[in-house]
Amino acid sequence: MSSENIIATQQFTGSMLREFFEMTQKMPNLLNGRLSSEEESMYLLPRKRVVLLFFEPSSRTFGSFAAAADALGVGIIPIVNPKFSSMAKGESLSDTLRVFGGYGQVIVLRHKDSEEALKALPWSKVPVINAGFGAGQHPTQSLVDWYTIWDHFGREDNLTLTMVGDLKYGRTVHSLAYMATKFNGVKLNFISPPELRMPEIVKKYLTTKGVSYFESSKLDEAVLKGTDVLYDTRIQREKFPNEAEYRRFKGTYIVTPDIVEMMPPRSIVLHPLPRVDEIHIATDSLPQARYFDQSDNGVIVRMAALLRMLKPELFEEFLIPYDSSMI
Ligand code: NCD
Repeated sequence: MSSENIIATQQFTGSMLREFFEMTQKMPNLLNGRLSSEEESMYLLPRKRVVLLFFEPSSRTFGSFAAAADALGVGIIPIVNPKFSSMAKGESLSDTLRVFGGYGQVIVLRHKDSEEALKALPWSKVPVINAGFGAGQHPTQSLVDWYTIWDHFGREDNLTLTMVGDLKYGRTVHSLAYMATKFNGVKLNFISPPELRMPEIVKKYLTTKGVSYFESSKLDEAVLKGTDVLYDTRIQREKFPNEAEYRRFKGTYIVTPDIVEMMPPRSIVLHPLPRVDEIHIATDSLPQARYFDQSDNGVIVRMAALLRMLKPELFEEFLIPYDSSMI
């Protein structure tokens, strides 16, 4: 298995992330055609191909990976509908990964079952990027999230993040919490209904790494006034055992301008999107509302992620190889 798989955010290091963010910051010039042809050739990757294997609904992650590949001159092989893939004929995921590793140099995989995806990984002969594995992790979303934070605050240390919503099934918050351990002085607040708390395994990891967290079901002023980043999430309807269970939690927290007003002036509101009803649209026009900038950042961050896999010589820092204790 390639050590350059990107599967879990525990694989990152603080210095690797800072280098990665600096690379990301260079990407808008390439994206917008503002580089000389000599500079451009440093980053362009003609004749490389990325396989986008998306076996669960996706629009932003798929679209931004496709846009990122296009901007780098990388061809895409999109396999997006499991009904029309050989998996519908009963092919195993490990066979699918083996086959598609022959068609491109990197595989971007989204799958609804984290365990199944992890089990199949060793069969891939090319690096795999986790684009969302079940209720497990979504590491490139965390790269997008923390790049947006770093770009706004001009730093990555000494920040307080408040994660709100479905912390049990939401893979973006799992990855983001693990990533918080890579920086200094980050504090976490986990706000969710008691039934949808952050998994114990994540909290245990935070404790072993000395990251402090506060857990509550109330999104109140005491929490909000100390929040730099309010990270709101959707109740993960499709991951509930049934619709009635989901309906118990729908609409539990709704971010409105009144909520944002309780936060410090330089704070921001993020959301991995799609939102359903958990951020009121009146919030969108506030300067703190940065979730659409965050989704725009998906393209430049994924350009840097593809470069990391396809042109590693541009980077000095290493990723920690994935091992099965991570998720
Ligand atoms: C997230 C996901 O798929 O986990 N979306 C995304 O990739 N931006 C969040 C979600 O679906 O709620």
